[in-house]
Amino acid sequence: MDLTHRPRRLRRTDAIRRLCRETRLSPDALIYPIFVDETLSGVRPIPSLLGQNHYGLDSVCRAAEACLGQGVTHAILFGLPAAKDELGSSAWAEDGVIQRALRTLKERFPELYLITDVCMCEYTSHGHCGVLRDREVDNDRTLNYLARIAVSHAAAGADMVAPSDMMDGHVAALRAALDQAGLQSTAIMAYSAKYASAFYGPFRDAAGSAPAFGDRRGYQMDPHNAREALRECALDAAEGADILMVKPALSYLDVIRTCADRFEAPLCAYSVSGEYAMIKSAAAAGLLDEYRAMCETALSVFRAGADMLITYFAKELAEAIRRGDIG
Ligand code: PBG
Repeated sequence: MDLTHRPRRLRRTDAIRRLCRETRLSPDALIYPIFVDETLSGVRPIPSLLGQNHYGLDSVCRAAEACLGQGVTHAILFGLPAAKDELGSSAWAEDGVIQRALRTLKERFPELYLITDVCMCEYTSHGHCGVLRDREVDNDRTLNYLARIAVSHAAAGADMVAPSDMMDGHVAALRAALDQAGLQSTAIMAYSAKYASAFYGPFRDAAGSAPAFGDRRGYQMDPHNAREALRECALDAAEGADILMVKPALSYLDVIRTCADRFEAPLCAYSVSGEYAMIKSAAAAGLLDEYRAMCETALSVFRAGADMLITYFAKELAEAIRRGDIG
């Protein structure tokens, strides 16, 4: 047999590998979560999220500086309010924790693109993502409050609002309220396919947002379902979402791929607290190489079709991209 003209694989040298990468990453596609605690002064490590911090309003600029210093120019803000009540009224207060953080950050760092998580679970005394009627979340009444929260964030300087509540009709409600308030240029990133996941555990610890009773399966998605994610995305897109999201990321790479193929809107994936904690704790136990695991998991999300990624590793990933280890 003449083997002279048989097909050959490229020799996998470093130069060829970089040339032929099918997935390209950029720090521009990374979004870093920042936790702001109204009761805190200074910076305090978050026990459930090794390497992450709570920032007081007096020190939130340090979080921004750390991001920008690594070339991460997009952040998403989560708030821990001083007071909670049945309606979560501190969520839309003019001088609420997020509203104040936004004003401070926008003034000092106009180049930092600020997204806010729009939800009620950090602000309600019962820890559910909306207002209750008979221990059930009242979807339609919740929409008014979510709209109020979004408008107050946008008025305080948010570039984009990200409703993570999973109520029906939330994007339409936010879009109408923002437009009516003259905030047409505020974008909406919808947590469209948000699953009822075990992987939010460390976040709920960090944000003090675990439900006081019951769970979120009444409004978050069933992990058995992928087609349902398409329906959720279609509704949010039709209601005017600028960006769609799948969350968590790693256990839902199939959903990311399908949504990326199916929808024209940009697609965000959220690599959630439990995904971060798995890598951090396995690495701390000496079981895997943290840097490589971080790079490989982030690559898998972009390879599956995500256009952007919210991740607690944003700063370290930006560094890995700069070094050429990925991207
Ligand atoms: C608020 C919200 C949650 C997360 C983001 N926004 C928690 C939840 O739905 O219980 C989770 C993020 C993470 O785990 O990193 N609803």
